[in-house]
Amino acid sequence: MAKSNGRPLSYSRRVPTSAKDAIALLKADHRQVEQLFAEFEKARDKKRKAKLADQICKALKIHTQLEEEIFYPEFLEATDYEEIYHEAKVEHESAKRLIAELEADPSDEYFDARMAVLSKIVEHHVNEEEKLDGMFIKARRAGMDLDEIGERLQARRSELEADLTWLGKAKKLSTSAGTSSDVR
Ligand SMILES: [Fe+2]
Ligand SMILES: [Fe+2]
Repeated sequence: MAKSNGRPLSYSRRVPTSAKDAIALLKADHRQVEQLFAEFEKARDKKRKAKLADQICKALKIHTQLEEEIFYPEFLEATDYEEIYHEAKVEHESAKRLIAELEADPSDEYFDARMAVLSKIVEHHVNEEEKLDGMFIKARRAGMDLDEIGERLQARRSELEADLTWLGKAKKLSTSAGTSSDVR
């Protein structure tokens, strides 16, 4: 039970494959996205900014999908905190709307503003999940099987990372892929 505050040093960037605990995995995603947002804010070169924005959008798409498919339903079943779950879902929806807009037109004059707002939404949302008495701590208290859920998160992540159409890498090849991106 390597819980409490003592995070292994390696968590700051990448999760070691042995880390199966669902909350540790999700928190590692949070740290990674925070790092990317910090780099985006410092970046001046247009190409670099575009690349970082793309990485941020993809990381957030995978993370929100994993939470919504696996972690949130388990949380709801284990705890009955429907309000927390609903708020989290609404925050995800706001983030996803912005991501779809960012991906639809990276040259839009509102691009930087959307990135700034996305950063704030994510910061707030991450705090809601990680704060004292937030979703993650409640999940731990409820005795959810976090190792088992963590294994499922990792397996599903591999599938999502391999799904290039869903991730948006193939969007220039087709305008009617039928998945995400068409929000307006
Ligand atoms: Fe979330
Ligand atoms: Fe999260």
